[in-house]
Amino acid sequence: MALDQISQRRKRKTLVSQRVNRLSPSGIRKFFDLIASMEGVISLGVGEPDYATPWHISEAAVRSLEKGYTMYTSNSGMPELRRELALNLAKEYGVEYNPEGELLMTVGVSEALDLAMRAIINPGDEVIMPDPCYVAYESTVILAGGEPVKVPTRWENNFELEAADVEARITGKTKAVLIGYPANPTGAVMSREKLLALAELAVRRRLLIVSDEIYARLVYGVTHTCVSSLPEMKDLTILLGGFSKAYAMTGWRIGYAAATREIIAAMTKIHQYTIMSAPTMAQVAALEALKEGEADVREMVEDYNRRRQFIVNGLRDIGLACFEPKGAFYVFPCITDTGMTSDEFSEKLLMEEKVAVVPGSAFGKCGEGFVRCCYATSLEDLEEALSRMKRFVNKHKK
Ligand SMILES: Cc1ncc(COP(=O)(O)O)c(C=O)c1O
Repeated sequence: MALDQISQRRKRKTLVSQRVNRLSPSGIRKFFDLIASMEGVISLGVGEPDYATPWHISEAAVRSLEKGYTMYTSNSGMPELRRELALNLAKEYGVEYNPEGELLMTVGVSEALDLAMRAIINPGDEVIMPDPCYVAYESTVILAGGEPVKVPTRWENNFELEAADVEARITGKTKAVLIGYPANPTGAVMSREKLLALAELAVRRRLLIVSDEIYARLVYGVTHTCVSSLPEMKDLTILLGGFSKAYAMTGWRIGYAAATREIIAAMTKIHQYTIMSAPTMAQVAALEALKEGEADVREMVEDYNRRRQFIVNGLRDIGLACFEPKGAFYVFPCITDTGMTSDEFSEKLLMEEKVAVVPGSAFGKCGEGFVRCCYATSLEDLEEALSRMKRFVNKHKK
């Protein structure tokens, strides 16, 4: 072979790992890039609170900087923060975690999720998860060398994960079930009864449940059940929690994992080589949030609830069938009557009416036919978005 042919071949060979090449680009990112280049867009796209972090929480961090608290903390996180978190979990859910060894402070649930997957997955292990689900679930499993196994969830079943559907997909390689309720993108909350059935299955088949409970505090008229509080589940649960959503602290990048000593030790090993410790000032802010932030959370939840009712009614008035979300801050209207795919609907709505929503297909095959709207935005913007959507739907309805 001629030398220049060999060098051409070398150039073509990808230098990126097969695992990374397997990941599809986030379906959400594409829309954010489009929005960034447009003016006058009302965004129901990004899933984050429109509030700034309550000032007393930010101020605690400012004061800590003034005092010079700018060093690394212990790998696991500040001891007083872990103690406060343990008290909080015991008070909220009646589940006892030892702050020494069973809790790890992380860079948001995002890091905790990645650590959990890397700590438990051997090559080829399967992790079962609902479809649709949060965009990072599939990717973190693939990056850890595992295989995601999707279980369809349906509107008729309130988008809850059915234990029987999970059991039908268990193989010799199944390691864990990864769930996130209250759910992004559907706003579904798993009932205690359905969670009990899943827990019974996990105990019987000795499976871990990795439970992303980042939206635990954002529930409306229903109660959130913490998976590790269920009988025999503490040892089989990796509980992931955070501050981003409930305390409006997305930019602080702080969250945690709670699990058995063995699993937290494994996660801490990865964390200490890749992250060292969660940001110190964010840990100080999280401590203040846990100690003094309850009234803020209640106030924001009441406000989200008003907006939730407003947008659900508004979407139904427009003629879009809409599952009633009981948690998080998303609604997931069905757009099949327009004859468009969720991708086409979202792109056309953005171009024609300057309203940004996220196509349901970005969250998995079963998200097709729906779009995700985040209502953590002002009532005025929601009103304007709904009137633009009404015009759009009337124009395109088949
Ligand atoms: C279900 C879910 N889990 C985790 C995250 C990321 O959380 P954090 O900001 O704590 O990394 C998000 C953010 O949108 C989410 O929706």
